[in-house]
Amino acid sequence: MAELERTREHAPAPSPAEWSYAPAPESREVVSLRERYGLYVGGEWLEPSSTYTTISPADESELAEVGEATPEEVDAAVRAARGAFENGWSALPGAERAKYLFRIARIIQERSRELAVLESLNGGKPIKESRDVDLPLSAAHFFYYAGWADKLEYAFPNRRPKPVGVAGQIIPWNFPLLMLAWKIAPALACGNTVVLKPAETTPLTALLFCDVLRQAELPPGVVNIVTGDGSTGAAIVKHEDVDKIAFTGSTEVGKAIQRELAGTGTKLTLELGGKAANIVFDDAALDQAVEGIVNGIYFNQGHVCCAGSRLLVQESIAEPLVAKLKRRLETLRVGDPLDKNTDVGAINSRMQLEKIEELVAAGREEGAEVYQPPCRLPEKGYWFAPTVFTNVAQSYRIAQEEIFGPVLSVLTFRTPDEALEKANNTMYGLSAGVWSEKGSRILWMAERLRAGVVWANTYNRFDPTSPFGGYKESGFGREGGRHGLEPYLAFDESEPWGG
Ligand code: NAI
Ligand code: MG
Repeated sequence: MAELERTREHAPAPSPAEWSYAPAPESREVVSLRERYGLYVGGEWLEPSSTYTTISPADESELAEVGEATPEEVDAAVRAARGAFENGWSALPGAERAKYLFRIARIIQERSRELAVLESLNGGKPIKESRDVDLPLSAAHFFYYAGWADKLEYAFPNRRPKPVGVAGQIIPWNFPLLMLAWKIAPALACGNTVVLKPAETTPLTALLFCDVLRQAELPPGVVNIVTGDGSTGAAIVKHEDVDKIAFTGSTEVGKAIQRELAGTGTKLTLELGGKAANIVFDDAALDQAVEGIVNGIYFNQGHVCCAGSRLLVQESIAEPLVAKLKRRLETLRVGDPLDKNTDVGAINSRMQLEKIEELVAAGREEGAEVYQPPCRLPEKGYWFAPTVFTNVAQSYRIAQEEIFGPVLSVLTFRTPDEALEKANNTMYGLSAGVWSEKGSRILWMAERLRAGVVWANTYNRFDPTSPFGGYKESGFGREGGRHGLEPYLAFDESEPWGG
């Protein structure tokens, strides 16, 4: 002990640099990229009529050329999907379809390192997250829905579930492979075939997934992947031979899709934006709440539809809680997505960075107080420091609009009623968090919050068995769980007692 004290006394105080982590980059070697990717149609790579370059948002380096599917190419994909639907896939016994899903799940697990590295490379999210969240959950969704494939009659007794047909699926860039899994797994489990379009900034894991499908020997045409931007998505929506559209993305595009499909009889589910309240009561365990707040808004750079972007704190604890939060932010490591110690990676695109910058500027102008921990952002690529706004009024844009970035707005409340009113005072209704030691208060809040998911003393926890989806402008329909099967099924209810 004496020895220890003596050295401490004489040793110079370590500088912050000495305490920081050494670089621990994950190797890119596990990923071998092609120079150019086609469209995956009918189990083959179709040469696209035009292409664009997909980049890494962390340094703007070019990764590969990918196709930009035209309406004609989308039509080829829909025809392949229709053919596969009619030539056996929809008539296959559920237990046989399950085998393919189990195989896909196992191959995702086996190739998870490769997929995780590619996800971080193309999308900018920390490898820690793609490795420990996106990949395990993607595999879990295929395992979970594999289990339902031969039990649909039990999930919907006396309702004679049948597949819907060809499903058109349009997904965003924040969880590219996971959103693919959320959409493809239940569609196939129910006997449908698929045309899926990944987001324009993150096509690569979906294209590598085609390799997984080949390895699993999935019959050609059951899953078709077409890359491209919003016009490719619109061509899927407009196609007359698509029976169901599943969309995850902005409320603006969701509304346009709903208008387009009005009166057509095409089934539709929409999973759109959010502006979730993360509500901390004065009896909550503050240190745990701080971890939950950080996970709620800085996870995946805040590119999360259910992000806890509005922190509602009970007034009596606002000061100590915000102080703890600011201290915690200083320990977040922002930088190289492929470094295993990185907590906050790159912003997904220049467009998204500009949107974040615009809303943060609006927050400053409207009079909110801004805090950003000192951190050095890389010079190349798209970056934004973790940000906290205090003194935020309910009317400010940063309290109302989805920022979809690492930016938290802090508001206060005095009573549970006020917390509830503020939490529900939004056009969205996707998720919420409640922090309190009191079970009765949590249940009281959960009952009254107009949000599809309410987390209690935790945040951003996902599980394939749990349905996920929104109220109001956050969309409709549920993904995950038994509920997630329903949008992919048609029911013959002419003989309700099974004939
Ligand atoms: P977006 O809604 O334009 O893109 C999502 C997907 O829809 C992409 O695959 C895109 O190519 C496709 N798409 C775009 N226009 C389409 C159309 N007319 N018809 C069919 N498909 C179309 O979202 P964007 O522009 O990337 O982001 C804008 C904002 O939307 C973000 O800042 C964020 O606030 C929100 N957003 C919410 C997401 C969520 O998970 N709920 C995901 C992505 C964005
Ligand atoms: Mg858009």
